[in-house]
Amino acid sequence: MYNEKVMDHFEHPRNQGAIEAADGTGEVGNAQCGDIMKIYLKVEADVITDVKFQTFGCGAAVASSSMATELIKGRTLAEAWELSNKAVAEALEGLPPQKLHCSVLAEEAIHTAINDYRTKHGLEAWEETGSHTH
Ligand code: FES
Repeated sequence: MYNEKVMDHFEHPRNQGAIEAADGTGEVGNAQCGDIMKIYLKVEADVITDVKFQTFGCGAAVASSSMATELIKGRTLAEAWELSNKAVAEALEGLPPQKLHCSVLAEEAIHTAINDYRTKHGLEAWEETGSHTH
């Protein structure tokens, strides 16, 4: 069902784990399947210097988290905010249509973690544009 790239990230996830005393964390769940994803961010001068994830979910959710963390590491918060679930799925060279919603978890978890960081630092939370597909 999954292509090689997805299988690679599923079997050898990058950046899996937790960050102690993270600057921002975000946990989201998918009500339909019950899968959960948590993202931890280390931020210095607006740049994501480290990121880790814990995902209790399907293979596509694990692969999406792995790829998403790779894509936002070293980026500014604003750049990371722009990462869409579509871009994650494209970087994985495609997910089966019925598994696309799993990549949405990664986008949402990153957004939640960024806003956790922002509100902890007295900044306004950014608003979801709602452009992604569920
Ligand atoms: Fe739940 Fe994939 S089936 S995230």
